[in-house]
Amino acid sequence: MSMSSSTPRHFLDIKDHSAETLRHILKIAAQVKALQKGRTQPLHPKTPLAGRSLGLMMSQPSTRTRVSFEVGMKQLGGTVSVLSPSDMQLGRGETIADTARVLSRFLDVIVLRTGQDTNLRELAKWSSIPVINGLTPVSHPIQILADILTFEEHRGPVEGRTFAWVGDGNNVATSFIEASARLGFSLRLATPEGFNPSETAVKWARENGGNITLTRDPHEAVKGADAIITDTWVSMGDKDAERRHQIFRPYHVDEALMAEAASDAIFLHCLPAHIGEEVSEAVFESDASVVFDEAENRLHSQKGLLLWCLGHDDLSSHTA
Ligand code: CP
Ligand code: NVA
Repeated sequence: MSMSSSTPRHFLDIKDHSAETLRHILKIAAQVKALQKGRTQPLHPKTPLAGRSLGLMMSQPSTRTRVSFEVGMKQLGGTVSVLSPSDMQLGRGETIADTARVLSRFLDVIVLRTGQDTNLRELAKWSSIPVINGLTPVSHPIQILADILTFEEHRGPVEGRTFAWVGDGNNVATSFIEASARLGFSLRLATPEGFNPSETAVKWARENGGNITLTRDPHEAVKGADAIITDTWVSMGDKDAERRHQIFRPYHVDEALMAEAASDAIFLHCLPAHIGEEVSEAVFESDASVVFDEAENRLHSQKGLLLWCLGHDDLSSHTA
């Protein structure tokens, strides 16, 4: 409901933010997680986002993003309106520009998950309140906040470490590429022909100090890596599932592939997972797999993000 003329704190892509800002958001996330786990004194007041409203606009299915934002906003004292674009006048042709300007008068922050990246950019352009990218076919930056938080909880700073991406060069891969340049870890991506990671993201990362290696060979990518990451072979909106299942078969992450990584390598997956496809059951259920910590960290990292977007990012002013 902000009427201020200053630029809202959108969170559309990792590359839009400096390492300092990303580190700041991650620090708040770790603080709110410690608070929730009772490891530190409670906030005072306990509800820094009381009176603030989040609009969750989800035009595609979601479990983690939707529930973690809804629960996280409520835990911080705010309210949530879950909006299905098809039930809004948007579905009958009202423009995104008008929708953004109207919602900006009611709400304080919007999360949008959309099958068209241009919708996100248009919403952010017209919105006078922060807009958060809740996943588009192009990128998934909020996932990477949780992934970094998870790696660092298990293995310490990502800086100087090596991550291996195996599979589709998709939206999650793009956000990882951007994060590798911003946060100083090396990233090797093994993708089949025709499913390369975004050329734009790779070019941007390399121009911004990123150490990105592209290969077709999963074995080359994972050799000695500190983390192996994969994702579904068929993302929302992909229409060629059968063909993909054939092409991606050599990119299946199993115990033999994990054994080629560092001896303490962890396995990350944004979920939902397809056991027997991109990952074997043995890897998914192994001690190296931290996928449910990763899912939990969606909640904590997004609470950190909401506090940052809404300018409540100095938690020291909320301690008793
Ligand atoms: N990883 C992720 O974004 O999950 P959902 O699709 O369930 O939100
Ligand atoms: N790449 C997947 C991620 C789901 C969270 C998709 O876009 O469907």
